[in-house]
Amino acid sequence: MKTASDLRIPFAWKDRHPVLLERCLYIPNFYADHAKWIPSSWSDREFFGNEAPVVIEYCSGNGQWICNRAKTMPHINFVAVEKRFDRARKIWACLQREAIPNLFVVCGEAVIFSKHYVPPISISEVFINFPDPWPKLRHAKHRLVAPPFIAALDKVLKRGGKATFTTDDRPYLDLMLEILLLEKGWKPLLEKPYFATNWADFGSSYFCDLWQKKGRTIYHLPFEVSR
Ligand SMILES: C[S@@+](CC[C@H](N)C(=O)[O-])C[C@H]1O[C@@H](n2cnc3c(N)ncnc32)[C@H](O)[C@@H]1O
Repeated sequence: MKTASDLRIPFAWKDRHPVLLERCLYIPNFYADHAKWIPSSWSDREFFGNEAPVVIEYCSGNGQWICNRAKTMPHINFVAVEKRFDRARKIWACLQREAIPNLFVVCGEAVIFSKHYVPPISISEVFINFPDPWPKLRHAKHRLVAPPFIAALDKVLKRGGKATFTTDDRPYLDLMLEILLLEKGWKPLLEKPYFATNWADFGSSYFCDLWQKKGRTIYHLPFEVSR
């Protein structure tokens, strides 16, 4: 049986390039030629080999949430996006161990992946689960939920596609709301104040469980792209 250590990057750092390895797309950092990648259809055999809707989870961490979702929703194709290789390979190990045919792993940065590697208007729904809040102002540039990421999502989501942002960090939630309400063609799916708390059917993830145990409120902010 394959374990996490069976997934290795098959080239030296100086020769880095994006590569598809057994249900994992590896996208290197500090690489100048992302724009040369020609995205192929999700229905190609190297991805899912079928036409089922595709859902992306960004910031998948160790993959607890998406592995469970994929197992309970076999009629949907799931893509886990995680920039850390040690975490991405844990998700890949789960996919191999539990033989989950409707799960694919991307080890790469969310904006780069969405901008250069996802076919336009091909995604039904995205979940952004507990993105790092980077609370200090001097670290704000690291926050994922910012206009470049939303612009990239806008290009890949289908008409009527959904995007749900989940966080325990209230200032980050307020910032997300400020950004999303300005976005043309994006509309909140809930009435004002636009978010719900502690969704029972959200599922579980490492950070969701951790923050809930500590008594923190979890905020869910669902939007629809109606352009
Ligand atoms: C706070 S953890 C949440 C993990 C998981 N969603 C959970 O709930 O347990 C945030 C994760 O997002 C990943 N991450 C942060 N920024 C990212 C980006 N720009 N692209 C892809 N992954 C990112 C981090 O490596 C980390 O694993």
